[in-house]
Amino acid sequence: MLTFKPATHKDMDTIHYLEQKAFGIDAYDMEMIIDSFLESGDMTIIAYLDDRPAGYVMAIGISEKSADIESICVSPEFQGKGIGKALLHVIEDAMRNHGFTESILEVRVFNESALSMYRKEGYTITHRLENFYQGEMRGSRDAFRMKKTLQ
Ligand SMILES: CC(C)(COP(=O)(O)OP(=O)(O)OC[C@H]1O[C@@H](n2cnc3c(N)ncnc32)[C@H](O)[C@@H]1OP(=O)(O)O)[C@@H](O)C(=O)NCCC(=O)NCCS
Repeated sequence: MLTFKPATHKDMDTIHYLEQKAFGIDAYDMEMIIDSFLESGDMTIIAYLDDRPAGYVMAIGISEKSADIESICVSPEFQGKGIGKALLHVIEDAMRNHGFTESILEVRVFNESALSMYRKEGYTITHRLENFYQGEMRGSRDAFRMKKTLQ
């Protein structure tokens, strides 16, 4: 059974583990995870599949109306089962509960599976951000910024 729980400070190792599994060398380090967790308030949520951590999502309010999805990932062994989409729905609900009307995110320009998920979920590209990421992957550091109006 798939369940979702807001993360607490005790979950930092779990989030670090999920980041490493899903992003590899592109993963956030522990310092970044803790800083972002503290900024996110209660908008860091972990998905468990039968009590096993399967993925997580973290969002931060960046203006009165907008929140930014800082990270979303599903551990490779659990990918393709609808968990990514479910995490997106859960974080969008959390944003709505906080009164945000716009969800924003950044994604590597070649990340086809994530781009496909976001497009299907109603996100559209608003900008191409040159050299957005510190580390180069597949010859690029560029991101697309995507946006969705929350109804
Ligand atoms: C992107 C990610 C979160 C999707 O999670 P997931 O649980 O595998 O996705 P879901 O099963 O919910 O599928 C949702 C949609 O994603 C897309 N998708 C998922 N896996 C895909 C793949 N291997 N190839 C192409 N599209 C794929 C599809 O559009 C899918 O919709 P569909 O089921 O109607 O075909 C996951 O692949 C992941 O963690 N990737 C590594 C980390 C990452 O890139 N995070 C996003 C950073 S911006």
